[in-house]
Amino acid sequence: AAVTDTPAARPTPKLPDSAKVLSVKHWTDKLFSFRVERPQSLRFRSGEFVMIGLMQDPDPKTGKQKPLLRAYSIASPNWDEEMEFYSIKVQDGPLTSRLQHIQPGDEIILRPKPVGTLVTDALLPGKRLWMFATGTGIAPFASLIRDPEVYEKFEEVILMHTCREVGELEYGRQLVEDVNADEMLSEIVNGKLRYYPTTTREDFHKMGRVTDNLSSGKVFKDLGIEPMNPEMDRGMVCGNLAFNKDIMVILDGFGLREGANSDPKEYVVEKAFVD
Ligand code: A2P
Repeated sequence: AAVTDTPAARPTPKLPDSAKVLSVKHWTDKLFSFRVERPQSLRFRSGEFVMIGLMQDPDPKTGKQKPLLRAYSIASPNWDEEMEFYSIKVQDGPLTSRLQHIQPGDEIILRPKPVGTLVTDALLPGKRLWMFATGTGIAPFASLIRDPEVYEKFEEVILMHTCREVGELEYGRQLVEDVNADEMLSEIVNGKLRYYPTTTREDFHKMGRVTDNLSSGKVFKDLGIEPMNPEMDRGMVCGNLAFNKDIMVILDGFGLREGANSDPKEYVVEKAFVD
């Protein structure tokens, strides 16, 4: 084999851990979501992430191809036969500059090892579950708000999502609408899901950063509920680094403590993954 080992003579390598793309939806010029076939043996807890990606171009010298992988929250719930992902498009991003062009029938790499802390197992039992997201940080919550188990464990689920512009909220808006319109899910959700979207840089009926609306108490007033407290409230955080840091200070201020899979407490945090 070594004798014929030139790049041209070698067959195209089959993708390791490949998953076929089923559909792609572009939400804005910077955001898209896509669904892929779920590997049969893949089990995960709603809220977890996996590594996905594409093969890099072959090395011009050796002809070898390496995978380019990034962590992506699984946006679909664990009962779904397909897997959904929600992604930013970065024009010069190593992965998303190419990933944004995938089409149905294409294959991506999907490493079947789900992990993550945004799972209900990492929280102590409580009454209200808060989900705090900026931008594509809504992805793990897209999974969780479609998981019946969340509504068995909590009496109320509050999803706060902040984006710069109205168009960036559309994925989440449609998701919540679909949950409430779904024959089976809506019965389980039964009005327990409260959605609080805001923008920061375009006019919208509700505005302001998640952090500011919590600190000022505006969100409690708007929803007609009492402020957060460590007996009742549990939180899950997924956004950019600065957001995560700022909101942790606020949650700590309400008396909540950060937990983990091995040490469940009142809230958990994960960085929204970007290219
Ligand atoms: P803002 O427009 O006031 O910066 P980005 O697109 O930069 O990732 O931001 C997504 C959303 O998160 C924006 O609405 C942005 O608000 C908000 N955001 C950014 N940083 C923070 C932070 N430290 N705390 C709260 N919200 C933030």
